[in-house]
Amino acid sequence: MTTEGTSANEALRARVAALRRDATKELASAGGTDQLEGWRVKYLGRRQGTLTALMKELGTLAPAERRALGAEANPLRLELEAAFDARKQAMETRAQAGAAATKPLDVTLPGRAPTLGKLHPTTLVLREITSAFASLGFQVMEGPEVEWDSYNFEALNIPQDHPARDMWDTIWIDYTDPDKSGGRPMLLRTHTSPMQIRIMERTRPPIRAIVPGRVYRYEAMDATHESSFFQVEGLAVDEQLTFAHLKGCLFEFAKRLFGPQRQVRFRCDYFPFVEPGVDLSIDCFACAQDAAKRPGCRVCKQTGWIEIMGAGMVHPQVLRRVNIDPERYAGFAFGLGVERIAMLKYGIEDIRLFYANDLRFLRQF
Ligand code: PHE
Repeated sequence: MTTEGTSANEALRARVAALRRDATKELASAGGTDQLEGWRVKYLGRRQGTLTALMKELGTLAPAERRALGAEANPLRLELEAAFDARKQAMETRAQAGAAATKPLDVTLPGRAPTLGKLHPTTLVLREITSAFASLGFQVMEGPEVEWDSYNFEALNIPQDHPARDMWDTIWIDYTDPDKSGGRPMLLRTHTSPMQIRIMERTRPPIRAIVPGRVYRYEAMDATHESSFFQVEGLAVDEQLTFAHLKGCLFEFAKRLFGPQRQVRFRCDYFPFVEPGVDLSIDCFACAQDAAKRPGCRVCKQTGWIEIMGAGMVHPQVLRRVNIDPERYAGFAFGLGVERIAMLKYGIEDIRLFYANDLRFLRQF
């Protein structure tokens, strides 16, 4: 090892130390990404970087000196690279935080509309019907959809093999466990009228109740027939109730649902559990005010009247069966189809739309 070599060696070592000092100081004061990049080129740049130049010089030294200096210069490179990365990272983090803090909240940005559900048309009409009757003093009750033959038919004056059973195409339940059913035939209720019996069995007059609920029929489905739909049953039992009460009550209901100018018409009809029995029609709200519209009217099929429910005075035999004395009490009852009312109110032409789950239909209400 020569003296000359040793002093060159020391000079190089001093340069490494000075480089570390300068580079570290400059890096700490680099104020932005441009300055940071300038620093990187100045010290670590592949072509003119100061450290790179120093490393190149190492190549000209004798092997022993090269090893000694390399041991100092190589870690410096790693050190400076790490310091650079850390500084860059810190700068970016601060820039992001600053942007978030100074960026004003854009209150004009339109909100995201929440997707609100809608009530089903059956529900809407059901609510109107129940609130109309509630304000007339009726309370709401509900009953089973799976029913005994005895409630759906027998207790309503419709014995087995009676031709009146043909009015209700029935879906029977194959329920043959004799321990539970006692062999009694079971069905899906074809109307809400069995609830007349269940209410009168448990409640003494005065009674004023309505029963909304699902009913089932074994139907060939078409635009006006579904195998499942909703009815609302009505029942009032009290001393001295007359047909006039039935008429006044249903007239009031018709006006509340279809407008104050509505007229009602009662015609004789047959239901085994009422006597007399009637069907109730309202005058056609589409053409009643304007005779010129009558010839083409699809709502009432050119008759001027729309049937909306069956009704009548509770048959004395039905009262007797639930131990209500028909000499002292009288009752009236009615039953209406909810979807039919909804079809009239909203101009829906096919009952099958109600439960087809087509959102394009359901969103309209
Ligand atoms: N339950 C009858 C039907 O479904 C309607 C009705 C109810 C008629 C009450 C008279 C009295 O057809």
